[in-house]
Amino acid sequence: MIQTRHAFPPLGQVAEWEARVRLMVKTRRFDHVVRVATLAREIAVANRLDADRAYLAGILHDIARDLPDRELLRLAPPEVPIDAAHPLALHGRAARTLLERWGYLDPVVLQAVEDHTTGPRSGCPVAACVYVADVSEPGRGVNQNIRELAMVDLEGALALAISSKVHYLQARGIPVHPRTLDAYRGLQARGALPGPA
Ligand SMILES: [Fe+2]
Ligand SMILES: [Fe+2]
Repeated sequence: MIQTRHAFPPLGQVAEWEARVRLMVKTRRFDHVVRVATLAREIAVANRLDADRAYLAGILHDIARDLPDRELLRLAPPEVPIDAAHPLALHGRAARTLLERWGYLDPVVLQAVEDHTTGPRSGCPVAACVYVADVSEPGRGVNQNIRELAMVDLEGALALAISSKVHYLQARGIPVHPRTLDAYRGLQARGALPGPA
């Protein structure tokens, strides 16, 4: 069962995870989750990355997305004021907490799940697959350019996605989450964005 502790991703149990997620999110959300997982796997394959982990992280990424704010705040206590003001932004970190409590331990998948809301901070390519897939899956009807770029230049697609978000928020005077700024600066440090911030 899912409660078993795993040192590595239980790739043979993907169907069990899909069933668990289906119970925890709205129907429309689950359709989004499957599209994200499918696209994350396609991006991983195109970039010769870990396709199994990319798919599973896609399946798990929104597992906490439909929990009430009070539950998100309990699972992911605010670290900065923007967290308390916008609990929905905590659903990545809350998802990680849930998965760890259920005994899921693969650090690559957990990092991708945690960072999908605020942006991959580590440069982890599986996290990049999931982040890019989440913002550009076909059901959103936007960001086709990011989706297409990801097939040939994942880092470039991530840079486009993160910089678009940061610039959009800054232009409107909306605070940017510190973790998103970390992701932005990480891309600058790796030469994927002009810098410094
Ligand atoms: Fe999400
Ligand atoms: Fe999502």
